[in-house]
Amino acid sequence: MNTSKPTLDGRIVLVTGAGGDLGSLAAEACAGAGATVILLGRTLARLESTYDRIVQRGGPEPLLAPLDLAAAAPEALSTIAGSIESRFGALHGLIHCAAHMDYLGPLRDVTETQWSQALDVNLTGAFRLTRTLLPLLTNTEAAAVVVVTDTEAERRRGYWGPYAVAKAGLEAFALVLADEYDGAGTLRVNLFAPGPIRTRLRRKAFPAEAGADPAVLAPYFIDLMRSDSPYLNGERIARAAVEPSVIEEEFQHVRT
Ligand SMILES: NC(=O)c1ccc[n+]([C@@H]2O[C@H](COP(=O)([O-])OP(=O)(O)OC[C@H]3O[C@@H](n4cnc5c(N)ncnc54)[C@H](OP(=O)(O)O)[C@@H]3O)[C@@H](O)[C@H]2O)c1
Repeated sequence: MNTSKPTLDGRIVLVTGAGGDLGSLAAEACAGAGATVILLGRTLARLESTYDRIVQRGGPEPLLAPLDLAAAAPEALSTIAGSIESRFGALHGLIHCAAHMDYLGPLRDVTETQWSQALDVNLTGAFRLTRTLLPLLTNTEAAAVVVVTDTEAERRRGYWGPYAVAKAGLEAFALVLADEYDGAGTLRVNLFAPGPIRTRLRRKAFPAEAGADPAVLAPYFIDLMRSDSPYLNGERIARAAVEPSVIEEEFQHVRT
């Protein structure tokens, strides 16, 4: 990892799930490095808390973009793109942190609503937002899309339900997109697997797990958003390998 002081001065970065634990961390880290951030998420009060912390620390004033990714009409997505274009004239980064996980258990018991909500937020929502913002992203220098994924997307184990299925699809989406821009030099698309981090979402699966502090991820998000990023295109960046024995121990909780 780069230890010199990175800067995101002048860069415009949109973060989804910016009221969540990792999303707010990503937004605050980017703002702390000089980026102007657009805070997209479902719950306005949570976005406002992130906004307040950024402004209190002297960061560039963020833009609030309250939006339910599962229900957003095409016009609502276009309005966000239009606001970014008219206010900033550019978009240099997009970090997908929003996620929905409300079911862990056998696939045979998943309801239609649980299935579609997981797919709509985690996969289709990310696709629709990215597609809307692509003209802005590819019109700027060294733009980057980061898709926050989960090791469960690769493991494909039972009882992780539609969340794991959607994350696997999200990984495929990101890598297909990366391949389409490979060689063009206009857009980098990378996957970032944070490993177990102490957040609201993680506690649903592992209530007793200590987990790492979200703050450990700040340097990754900054490095991923830099115009001179050490990360290229189509990479799967993992924060740290987790001992398989620890994973198995934790997983007993989900099975029982
Ligand atoms: N924590 C971990 O250990 C871990 C491990 C691997 C991967 N990840 C990934 O890290 C990312 C961040 O998760 P987190 O742990 O920080 O969870 P989190 O605190 O629960 O944050 C998730 C965010 O997604 C937002 N969201 C959910 N449904 C939405 C919708 N329909 N429209 C817009 N936003 C919506 C939530 O908004 P509300 O505020 O309105 O609820 C919340 O802000 C996720 O992609 C997750 O899969 C986390």
